[in-house]
Amino acid sequence: MITATEIRRRFLSFFEEHGHQVVSSSPLVPAQDPTLLFTNAGMNQFKDTFLGREPRPYVRAATSQKCMRVSGKHNDLEQVGRTPRHHTFFEMLGNFSFGDYFKKDAIAFGWDLLTSPSHYGLPKDKLFVTVFREDDEAYDLWRKGPGVPEARLARLGEADNFWSMGETGPCGPCSEIYVDRGKQPIACTVSPCAPGCDCGRFMEIWNLVFMQYDRQADGKLVPLARTGVDTGMGLERLSAVLQGVESNYDTDLFTPIVAAAARLAEEASGRRPDPSQGDDRVGLQVIADHVRALTFLIGDGVVPGNDGRGYVLRRILRRAIRFGRALGMERPFLGTLSGTVIELMEPAYPDLSAHRTAIAATLLREEERFAGTLAIGLAKVEALAAALRKDGKGTIPGPEAFRLYDTFGVPFDLVKDVAQAWKLDVDEPGFEREMEEQRSRSRKGMKEIAAPLAGALATSPIASSEFTGYVNHVVEEARVVALLRGEALVEELRQGEKGGVLLSHTPFYAESGGQIGDAGTLTASGGAAAVSDTQAVRRGLPLHQVTVLEGRLRVGDLVRAEVDKSRRLATTRAHDATHLVHAALREVVGTHVKQAGSLVEADRLRFDFTHYASLPEEIQRQVEDLVNDVVRQDLPIRSAVMPLDEALRKGALAFFGDKYADIVRVVEIPGFSMELCGGTHASTTGSIGVVRLAPERGIAAGTRRVEALTGALALDEARDERRALAGVTAALHVDRSAAPEALARLVEQNRALQREIERLKVAIASGEGGGGVEEVREVAGVRVLVPKVQRGLDKGALRALVDRNRERLPSGVIVQWAAQEEDRVQVTTSVSKDLIPPLHAGEIVKALAPLVEGRGGGRADMAEAGGRRTGDLEGVREKSISILENLIREARGQ
Ligand code: SER
Repeated sequence: MITATEIRRRFLSFFEEHGHQVVSSSPLVPAQDPTLLFTNAGMNQFKDTFLGREPRPYVRAATSQKCMRVSGKHNDLEQVGRTPRHHTFFEMLGNFSFGDYFKKDAIAFGWDLLTSPSHYGLPKDKLFVTVFREDDEAYDLWRKGPGVPEARLARLGEADNFWSMGETGPCGPCSEIYVDRGKQPIACTVSPCAPGCDCGRFMEIWNLVFMQYDRQADGKLVPLARTGVDTGMGLERLSAVLQGVESNYDTDLFTPIVAAAARLAEEASGRRPDPSQGDDRVGLQVIADHVRALTFLIGDGVVPGNDGRGYVLRRILRRAIRFGRALGMERPFLGTLSGTVIELMEPAYPDLSAHRTAIAATLLREEERFAGTLAIGLAKVEALAAALRKDGKGTIPGPEAFRLYDTFGVPFDLVKDVAQAWKLDVDEPGFEREMEEQRSRSRKGMKEIAAPLAGALATSPIASSEFTGYVNHVVEEARVVALLRGEALVEELRQGEKGGVLLSHTPFYAESGGQIGDAGTLTASGGAAAVSDTQAVRRGLPLHQVTVLEGRLRVGDLVRAEVDKSRRLATTRAHDATHLVHAALREVVGTHVKQAGSLVEADRLRFDFTHYASLPEEIQRQVEDLVNDVVRQDLPIRSAVMPLDEALRKGALAFFGDKYADIVRVVEIPGFSMELCGGTHASTTGSIGVVRLAPERGIAAGTRRVEALTGALALDEARDERRALAGVTAALHVDRSAAPEALARLVEQNRALQREIERLKVAIASGEGGGGVEEVREVAGVRVLVPKVQRGLDKGALRALVDRNRERLPSGVIVQWAAQEEDRVQVTTSVSKDLIPPLHAGEIVKALAPLVEGRGGGRADMAEAGGRRTGDLEGVREKSISILENLIREARGQ
């Protein structure tokens, strides 16, 4: 069997032999062409060369080009893996002429390579050819050159035989070469069956485009200065033909990946899927296709995201995971499989291996993220589908699909995938309707809440007091409009009194939208007051809560109202950061995340949001990283005032629990976040400094809380942590990286010691280990105690033990053996006073020390010797008893 690697190599070397420059594949992300999402044809990298804008040092080229097609009429993602020939990623073999050869040579090269026995050797009578309807020249060339008989030569229209790169750009008529695969299982109703027929008998393998025009935006075809050739042949199809298999998935481009996926599935589930048929086959094929695409996309620098290329990547990955789950793979597997793809493809694309680790890590991260977010949602979809099926229903209702999306973040296309597996339809228009209804519901809801408040304001005796503090105004001259002592309106507040102050206008922000009220000072000519807080009596009416520090404040006074600037700035930082955290959560975790409450204080914020599961540490890190990334980008923060309707239409996020007026403020960090917000904000994100998130936690079913510190407080916290850590490392005498382990060890040791102490306490209390009185024997009228050998006692404990035994044995001789660490042996002897002389503890110990190659001595009543453990200590103890008995007998003259 000819391998795909060999097929690719032969293609390139054939054209190289015919004067073509072999050019490397361009990346999947088109370098210069913003009109393209992904490279989708071999000619993309030569577009400007065809148009005469980019000269190259060669006029003939050949490539094996990485391509991605994820949309278009033949590239429905839903089909990939289910049919023999739909792919996302594929390789296109192509030869190109830039103003050099044209139709005649292109046809001759193509035919020679396909049919010559020294090349691919396909039987000529199995090949059919089509030309563009009006292209007589090509028709004649096929007849005369390769001699294709009329019966196997067809003319087709623009749809099949005119190729354009896109709406604009190089294009021209083409010829296609088809392989006749014989009669297909699907009965053909067309007679005679020919290329272009849907029955599947004829499979197109090679498209030869004769580049002639540059299509303009208005559709006009402007002839190219130099005609050219652009051909494209899918390596997967060609391999299927040359390897004699029915499906591209049965070629060696896929079988190793399918086999590896099957192995992983078996490891995960204990059941090996069957790659030859049924759902197993589809699942493995989906995974094989998708992991190729993912590997190459990430290798070419695409990262998972919520739009554009990143979204395509994410979508493909999620689809692969879903099929993986159906095969029993609950844990990440794509990272592992990317290794198989790299092994298989690196001979042709050597730079892949340089990205091996990054590819696997990116996949793993994204897989874990997805698993966390969707595990629950998917289970719900499956349960719903199963229930519907059981009830004999054929469709997942739109509102149900919407609920799954809205509540669990399950993307619509995944609902569709599950539905398909259960042979159910999904009511897509119904889903769209729900989506639209929800949008208008929230628009309406906002208005209804806002209306009664507007009414209440109209009847107020003091209409309103404008807040002037949006653009960092922290000082303002203002008039005292009203003073309150408790509930009562008063004319003045005196030194020491507490009360409320209403001003004509104020730079003090009154608590709202989670942001705390400002503090500061009010200074009048006759007195001064400290403002501890500012609260709105109702919308638009901020009441300053004051304590008069000196003199008095009177209604009508002109005051200098000065906000505590550093507190305000810190609060502003926290508010800016709150918007970033909100946007980052939606970006990283999913757009189902909704604000459920927030508190914004000086450099400290708390943000509650809806989500059904805890966020893995890695996800939390990603949120924190993204937030700080936006901080560092120092993006502008813009505020604008507009009608509520307009704001919602623009997509500004609104916190449904909040009440909004008809005219609202919209705070936008372009490209990242847009929210309805009455709070104070800085002009760029950089002033936040840094945002440190504390671990998130659940506070109620479906509601999570994350807290964060910003700016100075975040720095303080970091400093405190460093100080605490420095204390720990100093106490442990280790550096910080070793501290956790050292501490853990210490705690463990401590625990072991504690256990040992407990054990000893018990032992001591019960008299065990100290030698029982029953061990006392008599030798020549002297009571002798040689307790059993002690182990692991330190000197002090040993001494204590001997002392205790001396108390028990007021008259007698004690010899205590103890084994210590590192082969040390100690013997302690004790003689009671009444036996001295003739007995002497020092003499006894001297007599015993040689047993352990030791030395020692001491007082007559107590002596010690140390030695080495040379052998069995029990044996030593036995010997010591007989030596002792002899000594006693000798001394007592018996
Ligand atoms: N550009 C043509 C195609 O993509 C031939 O390479 O089919």
